[in-house]
Amino acid sequence: ERIPLEMHKVRIVQKLNLVPIERRLEAIRAAGNNTFLLRNRDIYLDMLTDSGVNAMSDRQLAAMMESDDSYAGSETYAKLEEKIREIFGTEYFLPVHQGRAAENIISRVFVKPGTIVPMNYHFTTSKAHVVLNGGTVEELLIDEGLAVTSTHPFKGNLDVGKLEALIKTHGAERIAFVRVETGTNLIGGQPHSLANLREVRAVCDRHGVMLVFDASLLADNLYFIKTREPEAANLSLREITRIIADMADVLYFSARKLGCARGGGICTRNQDHYMKMRELVTLYEGFLTYGGMSIREIEALTVGLDETMDEDMVSQGPQFIEYMVNDLDRQGVPVITPPGGLGCHLDAMRFLDHVPQTQYPAGALASALFLVSGVRGMERGSVSEQRDAEGNETYSNMELLRLAMPRRVFTLSQVKYAVDRIVWLYENRALVGGLRFVEEPKLLRFFFGKLETT
Ligand code: F0G
Repeated sequence: ERIPLEMHKVRIVQKLNLVPIERRLEAIRAAGNNTFLLRNRDIYLDMLTDSGVNAMSDRQLAAMMESDDSYAGSETYAKLEEKIREIFGTEYFLPVHQGRAAENIISRVFVKPGTIVPMNYHFTTSKAHVVLNGGTVEELLIDEGLAVTSTHPFKGNLDVGKLEALIKTHGAERIAFVRVETGTNLIGGQPHSLANLREVRAVCDRHGVMLVFDASLLADNLYFIKTREPEAANLSLREITRIIADMADVLYFSARKLGCARGGGICTRNQDHYMKMRELVTLYEGFLTYGGMSIREIEALTVGLDETMDEDMVSQGPQFIEYMVNDLDRQGVPVITPPGGLGCHLDAMRFLDHVPQTQYPAGALASALFLVSGVRGMERGSVSEQRDAEGNETYSNMELLRLAMPRRVFTLSQVKYAVDRIVWLYENRALVGGLRFVEEPKLLRFFFGKLETT
């Protein structure tokens, strides 16, 4: 057994609670079986997301103390802009308050009614913003990407044959931009390769189409390129990052995931693109030297981006996830393989094969796991989809329970506790029934929706 080693030590701690199962039952009932509606006080291990909950380093905390606060022209912002230029090589930067704010601005500027945004796979907020602006999303993931168990090292790759065909059918002028999401979230944090990105870029060049890169999960994807793609074995993370960034017309990220802080940003080398997006930052986010972020967060982000270029830092998440996935796999629990980034993903369709997709198996599994363990995961299945224009359900390709691994937050014994409880639940899976909505919001229903057992 390969034990992942932490290349950091814990110096500030937060007390956790493990409340009795009776309390957990009350809590999950009150939350309408939606783990988004639970309170932290009832949760033992919060594996809902890595967003905004990664551990901060001593260097980040120190940097936050020396921030230069001002509405316009702060030195803190100048440092971030310089770091972005150093790491991504992009001349222009627009700060935003988080990733979806970048998606709002990019979609408002580049998505016109009737246009298409091809992508390797959608993310909830990225799709919502494209659709809100009258565009449609076309998912062009390689077929292997949807195979729940696989040994393909890069299941997040975009199928360039499908991209060529789509452009041929609709014409390049209908394509708003091609979006590549690194560390493809909703299919289990699965990476794309450098080689694939190069092929996508070549197709975009041939047809004069813009390439937008969602780098929110860049840290994990860098690790996988470095460890799984032979051509990158001898490259530093900085070199790999530059190769990637040099291929994007626009690169954006959620700094809640990348850089271990808050906020987000849009980077580009193209002055024209920059000018088109700039005024929307002042309209929706804040002045150009903070964009909705606090100055302290900007300091932490600058340091966090720098630390993301450190292999010891970047490898912790994927190695813990690999340990968890392999341990569950060995014990027969259905998980997404190969292990990806972001978290360990349970395959609810096989885990609860007696619960039909119409009864939201991933939602049911999220609720049951919280009840038996105090571990909070996130439903990433049909509850996270939205109904089509006619009001019909759009069932997701995969029904996943995501158990996110916030970077440098949990110890290995906590991971082992989660594994132990998941194995118990799998052995007793017949106890778990399906769910139906009792309150179903129209937009992004997974955030506030309430469900009851069928
Ligand atoms: N793009 C990707 C790939 C993401 O994973 C997220 C957020 C966003 C964009 C939006 O960024 O939250 O800062 O507005 N993912 C979080 C998650 C919410 O839990 O997976 P945001």
